[in-house]
Order: sequence, then C-alpha cells, then structure tokens
Amino acid sequence: MKRIVLLSATDRPGSKALEIAGYMKQKFAMAGTNPEIVSLEDYPLESVAGGKYGKYLPDVEAFNEKVISADGVLFIVPEYNGSFPGILKMFIDYLPFPEAFRNLPLAFVGEASGAFGALRAVEHLQQICGYRNALMFPERVFIQRVNQNFDKETGIADAKTNEFLESMIRNFAEFVSEFKQSEFV
Ligand SMILES: Cc1cc2nc3c(=O)[nH]c(=O)nc-3n(C[C@H](O)[C@H](O)[C@H](O)COP(=O)(O)O)c2cc1C
Repeated sequence: MKRIVLLSATDRPGSKALEIAGYMKQKFAMAGTNPEIVSLEDYPLESVAGGKYGKYLPDVEAFNEKVISADGVLFIVPEYNGSFPGILKMFIDYLPFPEAFRNLPLAFVGEASGAFGALRAVEHLQQICGYRNALMFPERVFIQRVNQNFDKETGIADAKTNEFLESMIRNFAEFVSEFKQSEFV
C-alpha cells in the first residue's frame, strides 16, 4: 500500500491546516492508501537557527526523511501575507539538493480566511516545486473563507469545493498507487 504524507504546512498552533489534514487522512485511507500526517509544528527549527546549511543535522534529516520517503505528498497550505508560511520555505531550503522532490508526486490544497483560498500561496509553492523537478498533480483545491467553510467533523460546507476535494483525493490516491518511480526518468 502506498504511503501518502499529508503535510500541514504551518507551525501555527491550532491551525486549520492540521485540522484539514486530519479530516483528509481517513479519506485517503478509504481510498486504499496508507496516509500519514506530518506537521511543520514539529519541525526542529532550533537546529537550523543561525544558518546551518550544508551541516549534518540529524533531527532535520529525520524530519525530512519522513516526508521525502513517501510515495506522494499532499501539501495543505495556508496563505500568510499573500504567500505560503515561512516555515515551509525553511523546510524546503534544508531538503537534500537536488534530489528531494525529483519525480515525487505532489498535490496541493490551499486554505485561507480570505476569498482566494490561498491560490497565491499554492502558486508560489508550485513555482519552487517545479524548480525542484517534482511531479505536480493537476487537480488543486482551494478552501475559501476556511473558518466558516470548514469543520473538522463535517468537512467543507460548500458543495462544489467538497466535490473538488473528493475528486482530488480519489484521483491522487489512484495516481500514486499506480505510479512507478523506478520506470520514470
Ligand atoms: C501571519 C499570518 C498571515 C496571514 N495572511 C493572510 C493572507 O494573506 N490572506 C488570507 O486570506 N489570510 C491570511 N491569514 C489568515 C489565515 O488564512 C488563517 O489563519 C486561516 O485560518 C488559515 O491558516 P491556518 O492553517 O494557520 O489556520 C494570515 C494568518 C497569519 C497567521
């Protein structure tokens, strides 16, 4: 069974991103995958303080490995100041270069209190993932007005957004399950 990491892309305690990851986890399990939540709340930030690029950092390596050893990664991305959270860029900047995302299936859910549902945040992130040669899944979901529109028990109130989310879960799970990285150059 393929392992899909649901990456909650913020270190903000009590985030909607982590609630959404919890809600989606059971859906990915029902879609026949082995989902695991990784939260950037647990990122070992103190180990990278002061600019430790290129140094051996065992706790950073262990955190990174949980994510990049997955068969697919779904980012749940809030919008902070018109982009994605700084902790996510820090995480990416300490990933092994250049191989970390190469040919790794990545998918994206944006969520924000604003009307655009983190469209900007996801598109900024996708620019970076493109630079790092990831395989980006084309179905993206944007949860607008997340504080009114999402509840961790009942999910997404807006029917169309919910339909997009269900479709993306089904199709990304199928894509990751059938994808053979070894056959992909
Ligand atoms: C530092 C910071 C900046 C934010 N900037 C934006 C923004 O640019 N646009 C927006 O719609 N919401 C913004 N928000 C609100 C988030 O969308 C809101 O916190 C929402 O719950 C999603 O983030 P969460 O996963 O941290 O809960 C910001 C929140 C924080 C903490």
